[in-house]
Amino acid sequence: MSRASRAGTVVVDLRLRGYLQEAVLHELGAAQQYVAQGCLAELWGLDEVAARFRRDAAEELGHLERLTRRSLLLGVVPRGGPVPPVRLGRTVEEMLLIDRALEQEVVRTYDDAAHHAAQVGDEASAALFLELLEEELEHLASIEQALWGPSATVTEGSSA
Ligand SMILES: [Fe+2]
Ligand SMILES: [Fe+2]
Repeated sequence: MSRASRAGTVVVDLRLRGYLQEAVLHELGAAQQYVAQGCLAELWGLDEVAARFRRDAAEELGHLERLTRRSLLLGVVPRGGPVPPVRLGRTVEEMLLIDRALEQEVVRTYDDAAHHAAQVGDEASAALFLELLEEELEHLASIEQALWGPSATVTEGSSA
């Protein structure tokens, strides 16, 4: 009986906990960045660009919710922490280049996190990180398309 009452305090692999918390902070930072870039684009009178960033922000908040749900199921309570700094950019191109670097970073993190979760036998967390990885890869491709056109689907490590 007392074991059942402890169901909410499952012992979670420490590194997996770290990945979940890092992911939450990443998504918060990304949402904040896209909201800010959207507002800036709006001030520049670029309504379509603003709408794009608004959609991006909503998607990242959706990711935040899914990560938070998974964390709570594992008994990992969101603790907050330093959200990555917002980087705006002075032109739309600069914004997209900054966002590309951000998305490349999270793709690497989610790839590592998915592998680690699978390694410690947490299939559900591995599946979530893989889903998010797919969505961030699509996001990255859409940023590259906005920058360089439809033929630009190459996603290399570091060039910015
Ligand atoms: Fe995201
Ligand atoms: Fe994203």
